[in-house]
Amino acid sequence: MKEVGKIWMNGKLVPFKNAKVHVLTHALHYSTAIFEGIRCYDTPSGSAIFRLPEHVERFFRSAKLYSMKMEFSKEQITDAIVKTVKASGLRECYIRPIAYYGYGTMGLTPTPNKVDVAIACWEWKMGESKAGKESGARCKISSWIRIDSRSQPMQAKAASNYANAALARVEALKNGYDEAIMLNHHGKIAEGSAENIFVVKDGQIFTPPLSSGCLAGITRDSVIQIIRAGGQEVTERELERDDLYSADEIFMTGTAAEVKSVAQIDDVIIGNGKIGQTTRRLQKEFMDVAMGNDQRFSHWLLYI
Ligand SMILES: Cc1ncc(COP(=O)(O)O)c(C=O)c1O
Repeated sequence: MKEVGKIWMNGKLVPFKNAKVHVLTHALHYSTAIFEGIRCYDTPSGSAIFRLPEHVERFFRSAKLYSMKMEFSKEQITDAIVKTVKASGLRECYIRPIAYYGYGTMGLTPTPNKVDVAIACWEWKMGESKAGKESGARCKISSWIRIDSRSQPMQAKAASNYANAALARVEALKNGYDEAIMLNHHGKIAEGSAENIFVVKDGQIFTPPLSSGCLAGITRDSVIQIIRAGGQEVTERELERDDLYSADEIFMTGTAAEVKSVAQIDDVIIGNGKIGQTTRRLQKEFMDVAMGNDQRFSHWLLYI
């Protein structure tokens, strides 16, 4: 990682190299952290942060689900994010706010510890949408089942959710795939390790409902709104494993992934194995929105 710019820690911008925590930080031992992933795009009209209020809202919702007492308001965190991006000197970047139970009292109970907040940003290449790749991701249905809200609040974007996701990702990579797709406890499709999933079949677009155990992705919501604004419908319904195998097209959405096509699931080639028409169109439409070229969604960009 290039150590560029500064990292905001509890109200102060500190040099990237000095942004350190104690080894007895509660979150390091018990995974008591929540975070966000946000993008800032280098648009023709300047750098713009994509859907910042929605990310800040989810950040605070995640914190509430873990009983975190935040010392900063939504407005202060919003300002701090803008300040951190400006201090990085980067025109486009990935932004990572994190709140975590800090150093103080060890033992399982997190609440005696202060909630520390940090915001970092770094370069993260834009996804396939911009690169215009000709083939999509090869995905493996994971043998690891997505944890669900009987165990943890899954609408919190919590570090602890990602141990489950990381197991799935590593299993997929070890087996020669690019990404994992996770089933829920009922055997229905939940999501990728860090992306939501959509299926195109006979001209219709489907995605699992949040009750299938997927994160309420902000890119998922953006793509649904873009599709609907174009006059097409997206149906939220439970998806079976065979819905994936028999799909004409599959794509995944996420802040890091943007709109990523899927060429293969297990040993089944999806469609003709190339990026499908609908996926290609949505990749373009999403990038138009992110780049500020679609006035219908210009309110999603905060120019800094
Ligand atoms: C588990 C999971 N699902 C879905 C997503 C997509 O969410 P978003 O579009 O808000 O980045 C992410 C990425 O943050 C994720 O980690």
